[in-house]
Amino acid sequence: MSPVAAAHPISAHPPAAYTPLRLLQRHSRTRAEVSLVSTPHGPAVLKDFAPCNALFRFFFAPGFVRREARAYRALGEACPTKPWRSGVPGIPRLLGRPTETSLLVQYIAGHRPSRAPHGLLRPDFFDRLTATVHAVHARGWVLIDLRDANLLVDETGAPWLIDLTTASLLVAHPWLRWWVGRFLVEDRRAIALLKQRLLPAALTPADRALIAHADWYTKTDRALGALLRPLFEGLFGWVR
Ligand SMILES: Nc1ncnc2c1ncn2[C@@H]1O[C@H](COP(=O)(O)OP(=O)(O)O)[C@@H](O)[C@H]1O
Ligand SMILES: [Mg+2]
Repeated sequence: MSPVAAAHPISAHPPAAYTPLRLLQRHSRTRAEVSLVSTPHGPAVLKDFAPCNALFRFFFAPGFVRREARAYRALGEACPTKPWRSGVPGIPRLLGRPTETSLLVQYIAGHRPSRAPHGLLRPDFFDRLTATVHAVHARGWVLIDLRDANLLVDETGAPWLIDLTTASLLVAHPWLRWWVGRFLVEDRRAIALLKQRLLPAALTPADRALIAHADWYTKTDRALGALLRPLFEGLFGWVR
């Protein structure tokens, strides 16, 4: 972690108090605007639902932001106000919730794995990513939306999980044991699929087995995942 990020305090200034430096993701009706901003303490990432559809912003955005902030607090790098609580390596630190519908997160300078400069993506990227995902699982959480667009590889080749929107705390109930197990397997399968796509030479027999054993659940899960975003976008275009 950079010294600048290490020095960040939890911040609660309104988004207008930060100087925008670069747009990282343009907003849509239901997708937050994500920008690199300058704060008095250094660069940070502002994820803000303010420009989204008004109904979505009112009914859904505060819940999404609360969920994601909770995941960062449970999993992210130790925050300065709670130095005794260590975070999972490879998960940025939550810096604040400036409004009901925005989050401020540690900026990670890096590339999407699929767009990393030649040689930066090494087999140990996947080993470290696996260790991060295992640590998340060990705390009782699952990621669900583990994919190229939600990952960064930094200049040292280390992986970072940068989107915890879907991260969820698992409920340890005997009736849900099968389902909980499937969530864990699907996170691991997501790593194997990424490896197959980006660095097939690093695939292990265990990865191949995971990829080969995609069943009805995996297919339904992926189909639903692909359907949900356009459905939401369409709905909030219609109700505007
Ligand atoms: N902490 C971060 N550091 C650097 N870039 C980030 C960070 N968080 C998000 N981004 C960039 O913004 C993009 C969108 O952020 P993300 O949290 O995935 O939004 P969404 O929930 O809408 O998918 C990411 O693909 C990445 O390029
Ligand atoms: Mg994302």
